[in-house]
Amino acid sequence: MSEEINHRKYDHIRIVRDDDSTDRGKSYFDAWPLQHRALPEIDLKEIDPSTRFLGKPLSFPLMISPMTGGDHDLVRAINKNLAKAAEATGVAMAVGSQRVMITHPAARESFALRPFAPKTVLLANLGAVQFNYGFGLRECQQALEILGADGLYLHLNPLQEAIQPEGETDFRGLADKIGAIAAALPRPLLLKEVGSGLSLRDAEMAVARGIRYIDVAGSGGTSWSRIEHFRHRPGRSSDGGRAGLLFQDWGIPTPDLLRQLSPLRDRVTLIASGGIRSGIDMAKALILGASLCGIAKPFLEPALRSADEVIQLIEQLRKEFIITLFLLGIRRLDELIGNESLLA
Ligand SMILES: Cc1cc2nc3c(=O)[nH]c(=O)nc-3n(C[C@H](O)[C@H](O)[C@H](O)COP(=O)(O)O)c2cc1C
Repeated sequence: MSEEINHRKYDHIRIVRDDDSTDRGKSYFDAWPLQHRALPEIDLKEIDPSTRFLGKPLSFPLMISPMTGGDHDLVRAINKNLAKAAEATGVAMAVGSQRVMITHPAARESFALRPFAPKTVLLANLGAVQFNYGFGLRECQQALEILGADGLYLHLNPLQEAIQPEGETDFRGLADKIGAIAAALPRPLLLKEVGSGLSLRDAEMAVARGIRYIDVAGSGGTSWSRIEHFRHRPGRSSDGGRAGLLFQDWGIPTPDLLRQLSPLRDRVTLIASGGIRSGIDMAKALILGASLCGIAKPFLEPALRSADEVIQLIEQLRKEFIITLFLLGIRRLDELIGNESLLA
């Protein structure tokens, strides 16, 4: 079992690399044009895109979303390159599910990233459904400790588990269990989906149980249904993974979720992820109410090569984000976040 979980994380990376369409490329943010200013009345050089998250400064509102970890040289290299780049550029980084290190201790090293990122925000990660399969507060604390993390992401992935050949689909009673963990954990707990989205109803259930950070993780980018489709082999399931293709576009688009969740803005910090692919998308996500943006898949190939390549992509996104603010006549994030008058 532990070797299977370790192998699965590796499988996911192989499939994402082999099949371009696992990134749905829906560009849902394109449906939200912005008010271009020909007279912005500011100097691009005076724009300050910095922010704070979990008590630490970030150079601009970006997080490398959770992707991986495990007992493989490739996976160790990916996480090390991402952590070094996050530190060098002052952005946040989250790791992929740490379940593997609980069942397979040799995977721990891939999550011991604090030496590579001593100052910036690092987030731990576990699947919430594991609370129905033996995990509890102890595993959450272990996940935080190995990373020296500033907070713990819990991901919700019912579609992925339903399609996954060995999926764990008992999602009963999770909201209360998540609430109990949030109350007992020494660090903030953040809730996310993995690409189908957390709806207003989900978010209200979480807020009622004390959750203060929600990553909508909506649809538009990486499709876990499609990824798991490719993990079916003949004889492993009755439908041969067909359902994985049927549901590949399932979910709520990320910009729509930000609008849905706007009534909760005064009670939660919203994080936008799922299909964010440029600095323009980032600015739109903030205008729609997010305080921070997460991007996963576009960082995978650069991270396989070097920290420098990850840094280049982050710098590119930063440049695009600043140009967008310039063209909107915006100097700082407090003028941007939730300012829907900037929509055309
Ligand atoms: C290769 C890969 C592995 C991922 N593994 C995890 C994971 O272990 N835990 C998690 O919460 N999300 C995981 N995700 C989901 C992302 O964090 C993110 O929610 C989703 O991919 C949408 O972002 P994107 O469209 O920018 O890729 C993974 C994504 C990718 C591409």
